[in-house]
Order: sequence, then C-alpha cells, then structure tokens
Amino acid sequence: MTPEQIRLVKSSWASVILIAEEAGSMFYKRLFEIAPEVRPMFKHDMASQERKLTDMITYVVANLDKLKEIAGDVKELGSKHKVYGATAEHYKIVGECLIWTLEKGMDDKWNKDLETAWLSGYTILADAMMEGNV
Ligand code: HEM
Repeated sequence: MTPEQIRLVKSSWASVILIAEEAGSMFYKRLFEIAPEVRPMFKHDMASQERKLTDMITYVVANLDKLKEIAGDVKELGSKHKVYGATAEHYKIVGECLIWTLEKGMDDKWNKDLETAWLSGYTILADAMMEGNV
C-alpha cells in the first residue's frame, strides 16, 4: 500500500467507526444474504461477533504502516479461521461485504480511490491470515 492509501483507509475508518455497531450488523446481514451457507459457522452471539470484527479492523488499520509488528496476532487469527473452516472463496466474499459496508457507511464520500485502497489492505490481511505471514 502507498502512504496515501494508508492515509485514505485510516481517515475513512475513523468516520465509519462512528457508526461501528450499525456497520457490524450491516456487514453480517449482507454476508448471510450473499452466502447463507456460512451462517451455521457462527455459533456465538452475533452482537459480540460484530464488535470483535470492528475491533480487529480498528487494530489492523491502526497498525497498517507497521504490519510486521502485529504479524503474530494476524497469524493466530488466521489459524483460528482455518479451524472455523474459512476458505479462500469465503475470504473473497467477506472482502466484498466489507467493501459494500464501507461504501454504505461513507455514502457520498465513497470513491474509487477509497475502494482501491481498502481492497489493497484487505488483500494483504486476508492473504496473511490464510498463509500465516505478513
Ligand atoms: C480479514 C478477514 C477477517 C477478519 C478480520 C475476521 C475477524 C474475526 C475475529 C476478530 C473473530 C473473533 C475471533 C475470536 O473470538 O478470537 C472472528 C471469528 C470468526 N470468523 Fe472471522 N474474520 C475474517 C474473515 C472470516 C471469513 C472469511 C470467515 C468465513 C466465513 C470468517 C468466519 C468466522 C467465524 C465462523 C468466526 C467464529 C464465530 C463464532 O465463534 O461464533 N471470518 N473473525
């Protein structure tokens, strides 16, 4: 990611985080609409899952310029997802739902540069989770 892309992701997340609860519930609603087959993988309380996801995104975004420093946490999260049964196809769908949620959350402030920046960040994170390295 370029420094400008990192800046774009940080500043847009700072505004989406203001509606974190709404964003979290919109994200999973969309995920379960697009991929109902993943619904049974989620066995615990969804309100707490929504918070875990938005907290994790906040943590990763805050460390975007020094991802090596959080490599251990990303690897651990990736290992947990192997156990949950998350596949490469699931990661692709989750990425699409994330972008969709961000677009809704940003409304008329959303643009192509933001989309490219987020896609780049998400791809780095998802690949690191799947492969166990940053
Ligand atoms: C970069 C992408 C992703 C991030 C940042 C993320 C983040 C998280 C976090 C923080 C947790 C909580 C872990 C814990 O309790 O210690 C979690 C749980 C979970 N995630 Fe993900 N996740 C991602 C992708 C996916 C994908 C692709 C799937 C596949 C459908 C998935 C399915 C699950 C499931 C099934 C759980 C456990 C839910 C439960 O216990 O009820 N996640 N995720």
